[in-house]
Amino acid sequence: MDSQLVGKRILVGITGGIAAYKTIELIRLLRKNKAEVRVVLTPAATEFVTPLTLQAISGNPVAQSLLDPQAELAMGHIELAKWADMIVVAPASADFIARLTVGMADDLLSTVCLASSAPILLAPAMNQQMFSQTITQQNIRALQQRQVQFVGPNVGEQACGDVGAGRMSEPAEIHQKISELLSEAQDLLGVKVAITAGPTREAIDPVRYISNHSSGKMGFAIAEAFAERGATVTLISGPVNLPSPLNVHRIDVISAEQMQEQALMQAVQSHIFVGCAAVADYRVANIAEQKIKKAGDEIQLTLVKNPDIIAEVGHLSVNRPFTVGFAAETENLEQYAKDKLQRKKLDMICANDVSSGQVFNAEENSLRLFWSAGGTTLPLTDKRTLAKQLVNQIMSNYQQYYVEK
Ligand code: PMT
Repeated sequence: MDSQLVGKRILVGITGGIAAYKTIELIRLLRKNKAEVRVVLTPAATEFVTPLTLQAISGNPVAQSLLDPQAELAMGHIELAKWADMIVVAPASADFIARLTVGMADDLLSTVCLASSAPILLAPAMNQQMFSQTITQQNIRALQQRQVQFVGPNVGEQACGDVGAGRMSEPAEIHQKISELLSEAQDLLGVKVAITAGPTREAIDPVRYISNHSSGKMGFAIAEAFAERGATVTLISGPVNLPSPLNVHRIDVISAEQMQEQALMQAVQSHIFVGCAAVADYRVANIAEQKIKKAGDEIQLTLVKNPDIIAEVGHLSVNRPFTVGFAAETENLEQYAKDKLQRKKLDMICANDVSSGQVFNAEENSLRLFWSAGGTTLPLTDKRTLAKQLVNQIMSNYQQYYVEK
């Protein structure tokens, strides 16, 4: 018996493809391991497998249509979307992958996927030429960026006689992947996290700007550490030279005002918000439309205050996430960090000592963490290891926060 699956609610979507017959065995395996299964069939899938078979094997009525009043009365599409701990689409056709990529909601399965916050696992199955097409590969990469998980396809002889990558994974392999995703290592499945990282750039004229030395390494490492544990991560990044961590949705911005707009939009949809960006406190009051010409020995720039993004998140009265800030200080580390914790209404603050320029763009960092009822120190180590330790502490405080609420 696979204990990861006991009591788990798995919604199995079947799209049109000859491999649909293998999904019957997958459902049998899931049920054998005490998972609850509900099946959604696309119209094309009914050409390959019958609702009656799937009802018998899953032990539940099979849903097929978005516009079926009877089915909607029993368990409507939104209820189905909320019911699922995980959505598994096997086989996932090239057409379904493309439609999921662009957010279509014109049939029951695509609508349920769009309406659900459950993790989604796709088991692609298609002709090898269709699989290797640039557009299919681009769609798969786009979905991976949005945290959609994949299993397979396998390489081998196909029903059409071609040989290549495109065969749906075997039921046992899909079952194993489901189990892994539900396992301890993926303990943050369903947790939504928004993170800001990197610097902002505040334009002076079309060719010059004010910024700072943040490289984004710390914020990207935090995004990676959350994503590795299965959280749904959105990373709002200032201009940096770093590749996106796997399974992280990245939004690139330049200025503090752009970061504010994206961060607030993401914060209200997230459980946890981490403000690791080094946001410029001020911006130029009037950005010159043309390059400023050199004239005289001095030049005056008037700066105006930028929005304090994390303070706005901390002070949200509706849909406020658990809010974690950073403080980069050159002196009075503890006092200034605790002051920011209180003033910006944060749940936790991570203080860096940046005197003598260390931390910004460095490979290593240490952090002193403070929250209203305590604190701890994370000693000097590489930023990725530090990020993992920080995520452990954030999750422990986050869980406590909900116990107390
Ligand atoms: O990117 P790296 O090179 O890896 O370096 C990491 C780091 C030093 C940038 C990072 O660890 C860090 O300390 N980030 C916060 C830097 C900072 O701007 O600190 P602050 O004390 O000025 O700001 C306090 C908090 O308010 C931060 O959470 C910051 O994101 C937020 N803030 C600040 C100003 C502003 N206008 N809006 C904000 O949201």
